[in-house]
Amino acid sequence: MILDTFVDAAQADLRLIPVSPVTPDTLDSKLGSAPEARAWAASHGFEGKPGQSLVMPGTGGGVERVLFGVPDEATLWDWAALVPTLPVSSPPAVFQIQEVDPDQATRAALGWALACYRFTRYKAAETDLPCCAWPEGADREAVTRQAEAVALARDMVNTPAEDMGPAELAGTIEGVAGRHGAQFTCIEGEDLLTQNYPCIHAVGRAAARAPRLADLTWGDEDAPKITLVGKGVVFDSGGLDLKPSAGMKLMKKDMGGSASALALAHAVMAAGLSVRLRLLVPCVENAVSGNAFRPLDVLNTRKGKTVEVGNTDAEGRLVLADALAEADSEGPDLILDFATLTGAARVALGTELPALFCNDNAWADAYLAAGRSVTDPLWRMPLHEPYRRFIDSPVADLNNIGTTGMGGAITAALFLREFISTDQAWAHVDTMGWTDSAQAGRPVGGDAFGVRAALAMLEERYGA
Ligand code: BES
Ligand code: MN
Ligand code: ZN
Repeated sequence: MILDTFVDAAQADLRLIPVSPVTPDTLDSKLGSAPEARAWAASHGFEGKPGQSLVMPGTGGGVERVLFGVPDEATLWDWAALVPTLPVSSPPAVFQIQEVDPDQATRAALGWALACYRFTRYKAAETDLPCCAWPEGADREAVTRQAEAVALARDMVNTPAEDMGPAELAGTIEGVAGRHGAQFTCIEGEDLLTQNYPCIHAVGRAAARAPRLADLTWGDEDAPKITLVGKGVVFDSGGLDLKPSAGMKLMKKDMGGSASALALAHAVMAAGLSVRLRLLVPCVENAVSGNAFRPLDVLNTRKGKTVEVGNTDAEGRLVLADALAEADSEGPDLILDFATLTGAARVALGTELPALFCNDNAWADAYLAAGRSVTDPLWRMPLHEPYRRFIDSPVADLNNIGTTGMGGAITAALFLREFISTDQAWAHVDTMGWTDSAQAGRPVGGDAFGVRAALAMLEERYGA
């Protein structure tokens, strides 16, 4: 588990190696008066700049303490850079971040935890990790639920489609439900038709593994309702409008929205927020077969609007349409969906900045502010009304692709909006779900963007 490198300082009778934050301004005083310490720092070129680490020896030859350069308002990501700089010994030494206030201790511990994430389902990790004692004052529960949430999402996305099919995805959600005493139901295969989820069925029916809709509910029935929706396309071949191989390669991550939504659901339940939580995840594989849905087919939707299929590769908005219509039918305080919906959002904002579309300015502002405060940023994009005409269809109420390829993230969001009532608060996160370029605490692979931000926003509103 991701928190395995943490030990309880109070319980273990251990010699702790202190790790102290330092800046170029505080370096002098942190080094103390001993000339050896100054010489050691100088000979290592250590100036206390962010990310620099200085392991200080004791007289007996062991590690005495560590100085680590962090900026004044250090984020969890600044702290994440500490882990790979520390020596790993046998028996393990135990480090403890010290001289930090409780907020900083919490951020430092979370950065440490996320830096210790590794995907070990198919082979053991090749190197050992350093151990740490919980920093004094850290909010262990907050760190634990966030680290578990992020690790859960990363593991889910990293797992290839063969081992993360519609059943396994739904099973993972059921497992989280069980852990929190939440209710779980799942509508499978042909039952999607009898229970009026025609788009989820149409997109998923060609796969050898039946489509389904996973549905988790938790919390006090009278509490304000929050409904999360996640795109759970376990593999996106593009359907009959098949993706070229380069574009298809990474499509095991097309359930990244559902991984993010489940991660958030886990954290909300672990935090015990005063909400009635619902999570809806259409779990489908967009595959090719004799019974695949086709370009220019016209699909019915749960809401009753008809959709002409301009491209079978715009499948995410189809499965979300049915799930969002169901979410909308209950009129929750907020509907929040996560989806690896468009390549266009990545062209607009790059891979690390999820696009936020929201029809409610108060919720949007709260989400963006939360993202800034927990260093999990999002960027708002517009539900630009004039572009609604691009998803008109000559034969149906809507087309699932725009008549222009431009502004594709916006036309996709406008498509989703068609399944939300005008007075219903709704936020849509178009995410990459994947880190392409590693940074401290963020290895290449599956990732959960905008999840800690959403948690912070909901804690602010519904926390104790
Ligand atoms: N899952 C993809 C979107 C995607 C691709 C997200 C790459 C992140 C990285 C989605 O189902 C898709 O194929 N979208 C198409 C829509 C188009 C056919 C209108 C796209 O973005 O090209
Ligand atoms: Mn697609
Ligand atoms: Zn997709």
